[in-house]
Amino acid sequence: MVIGGNLMKIEVEKNSLLNVDAESLIIGIYENIEDSKHLIDEIDTKLDGSIKERIELGDFKGTIGQISTIYTHNKIPAKRILLIGLGKKEDLDYETIRRVIGIAIKKIRSSGVKNSKIWLMGLEKTDLKVEEIAQAIIEGAILGNYKFYRHKTEKLDEIKLIEELTVVYNDLIDEIKNGVRSGRIIAEATNFTRDLTNEPANIATPIYIAEQAKIMAIELGITCNIYGEKEIEEMKMGSFLSVARGSNEPCKLIVLDYNPNKNLDTVVLIGKGITFDTGGISIKPSTGMWEMKQDMAGAAAVIGALKAVAQLNMPLHVIGITPLTENTPGGRNPIFPGDIVESRKGKTIEILNTDAEGRLILIDALDYANEFKPKLVLDIATLTGACTVALGTHASGLFTIDDDLAEQLIKAGEETQERLWRLPLWKDHENVMESKIADVRNINPNSKEGAGASNAAAFLKHFIGDYKWAHIDIAGTDLEYKGKDYTPTGASGVGVRLIVQFLKNWIKQI
Ligand code: BES
Ligand code: ZN
Ligand code: ZN
Repeated sequence: MVIGGNLMKIEVEKNSLLNVDAESLIIGIYENIEDSKHLIDEIDTKLDGSIKERIELGDFKGTIGQISTIYTHNKIPAKRILLIGLGKKEDLDYETIRRVIGIAIKKIRSSGVKNSKIWLMGLEKTDLKVEEIAQAIIEGAILGNYKFYRHKTEKLDEIKLIEELTVVYNDLIDEIKNGVRSGRIIAEATNFTRDLTNEPANIATPIYIAEQAKIMAIELGITCNIYGEKEIEEMKMGSFLSVARGSNEPCKLIVLDYNPNKNLDTVVLIGKGITFDTGGISIKPSTGMWEMKQDMAGAAAVIGALKAVAQLNMPLHVIGITPLTENTPGGRNPIFPGDIVESRKGKTIEILNTDAEGRLILIDALDYANEFKPKLVLDIATLTGACTVALGTHASGLFTIDDDLAEQLIKAGEETQERLWRLPLWKDHENVMESKIADVRNINPNSKEGAGASNAAAFLKHFIGDYKWAHIDIAGTDLEYKGKDYTPTGASGVGVRLIVQFLKNWIKQI
């Protein structure tokens, strides 16, 4: 079984525009035609002014994502030219590049073309760097070409995917190759995360996810320890186990450890891995419950991020910890509302709602993270419906008491357009989570008081160790409903690009 998305062959070619031999050649054109004059003039000398004609007739305006196909009738080696609008030159950024490439790729593949070339765009804009342009092009292409087709019985041929893509330019080939390499690593890691997340709970069990992580780790030379129930018990993760005991499906704790050098700073990434969230005894309503197969999107993002970090050879010690279990009211001994359990940290928890289970598995990982003496711990989780109510699908929730860390994460969110919006995490939220009969409770039973996403973050904060910490709630962003330019419907793979970008920036400042 292929995992890691639909792998595309990717090349870089040095050539002049009119000599490119291709089934389809994508060329970006700005809205103000003057900004693309050199390209248009060059092609039009061979194509009898056909681009200018389209522009003059108003058929092509160069607005973002607008497409016009030109058949070249053997006047140049490229059989078709796909003009793609870049919008206004002054507004062009990496996100627009990712978007327009995503749009162009889908257009090309819908016509059954299997390989395409792209003329490098955007260099007219002096604030854009060639490496990062190439990275954005490849990200847009690989992410936009993604389809989760493994369970479709049609032939691969009918699925229509671009199989081969070449970035062409007449200069700067080494820089382009570097950008293409990064873009490919990051986008394929994101697609790996999408695959893991899209897979339903009867397939993507904790055992399956652990196997996939192990295969990835062996391939990349990362250490991967997979712990089963007995070991988790020995590690005193009573809170995690209280959730796991409601299921007959064995739980797993994955610890991925990428350490390319001694004496590097350590970062721990923690991902919520509920392979299905029925709610447990506090069972969820049936409408839309299928979405809870994605309640392990945080774990999948952590596994994908480690794949990318290792392939990019980042000079950083990165550990990924993912507790994995179902949350279901069966098993041997499901938790009942009112139960009191003891966490790894030793604090006791009154469980007032078994549907607030993500926080119960995360806190033991947050405490365990301390063993690695990390500088920083990030956790990522589909934690609360309340976060979706606050932010919709447009941003993930960010919670931290560290203003610098918040700023850096928000910046990475802007750069990748996996946006973050900071929500409060105050002492008041922490106080609300104190219990009368145990140390803390897992929900505020007075739901009228609201602030569910902040309360969940505050619950986590009761268990953190001696490190900088931020919590990212992806409950609203893990699933794409409508399909965007380079994010098809289904699992978005959110978190991988964000974390990798954040770590890239972070390395630069240490
Ligand atoms: N997995 C859910 C959160 C969720 C909701 C993710 C919608 C994605 C979309 C989480 O375990 C949960 O059920 N949270 C409860 C908490 C409540 C009981 C305090 C919720 O948000 O309703
Ligand atoms: Zn739940
Ligand atoms: Zn959940």
